[in-house]
Amino acid sequence: MEKHFAVIGDPIEHSLSPWMHNAGYKTLEIDAEYQRFRVETNHLAESIKGLCALGFSGWNVTIPHKESIIPYLDHLTPQAKRAQAVNTVKYHQGQLIGHNTDGDGFIRSVEVDLREFEGKKAVLLGAGGACKGIALALAEQGMELTILNRTPEKAEKLVELILKEGGKASSGRFAPGGWLETVDLLVQTTSVGLHREPFPFSLEGISKQALVVDIIFNPMETLFLKEAKKLGCRTQNGLGMLLYQGALAWEFWLGRQAPVEEMGKALKNRLL
Ligand code: ATR
Repeated sequence: MEKHFAVIGDPIEHSLSPWMHNAGYKTLEIDAEYQRFRVETNHLAESIKGLCALGFSGWNVTIPHKESIIPYLDHLTPQAKRAQAVNTVKYHQGQLIGHNTDGDGFIRSVEVDLREFEGKKAVLLGAGGACKGIALALAEQGMELTILNRTPEKAEKLVELILKEGGKASSGRFAPGGWLETVDLLVQTTSVGLHREPFPFSLEGISKQALVVDIIFNPMETLFLKEAKKLGCRTQNGLGMLLYQGALAWEFWLGRQAPVEEMGKALKNRLL
C-alpha cells in the first residue's frame, strides 16, 4: 500500500470509518488502506509517534482523544482552533496538523434540505462535545441558535462561547415551548435514543417546515425522529454527518474530491 490512514479512539470496534474510506479508495483506485486502532488514554503519546514512524499520512481521532491530542500537534486549522477539538490529523513533511471536520460535515449534510442558514432559527438539544462543534458551525453560517440542555449551566457556557465568536445564541429550558412553532432546524445531540429510549418530551406542535436531525445513526431511526416524521417534518439521522465529516477529512488528506455516493452506500450496507 502506498498510503496509510486510520482512526484512533477507545472504544473503537464500532467505528464505521474504515468501511467508508476503504470503499472510497476502491472506487477511485487509490492505493491506500484505512485501519482502526484502539488507543487507551495513557498510550496516546506513544501511538502518535508510532503512527508517524510507520508512515501513516493521516488519521481520524474520536472519543476520548479529540481534545487531549491537541498538545501533541504542531499546527491547528481555524476549524480545530474554533472547536478546541480535533477529529482529523494530517502528517506532512514532519509536521502534525490538527483539523476538525465535524461542524462543516454537519453543515454539508443539511444544506441541501435547508438551503439557507442566514437568519433562520436552530434549536439544539444537548450541550456536550458533539453539540459544540455543530453549534459553532451553525452560528458561523448566521443562524440564530437556542441551546436547551438538561443541565442548564452547560448550555449557558456554550452560549457564552458562541457570543464570544460573534454568533447569535441564547439558552432555555429543556422542555417544549413556543420555539416549536418557529424552529427551522432542530438538532438532537444528546445520547438519549442510543439505547432506544424515548426522548424526555413531545414535539407536538412543531412547525411542519422544520428539518429535524438526530445525530444518532444506530438505530437509524430513533423514537425522536419517528415522532418528528409522524408530525409531518423532514428528518435526517446522523449518517449524513458521519459521511460528510469523513469526506472532508479525505479531501484534507488527499486534496481531491471524495466519492461521497459510494462512501455513503458502504456505510448503509454496513449498518443494514
Ligand atoms: P458528547 O460529547 O457525545 O456530546 P457528552 O459530552 O457526554 O457527549 O454530552 C452528552 C449530552 O447528552 C449532554 O448534553 C447531556 O446532558 P447533561 O449535560 O445534562 O448531562 C445529554 N444527556 C445524556 N443523557 C440524557 C438524558 N437522559 N436526558 C437528557 N439529556 C441527556
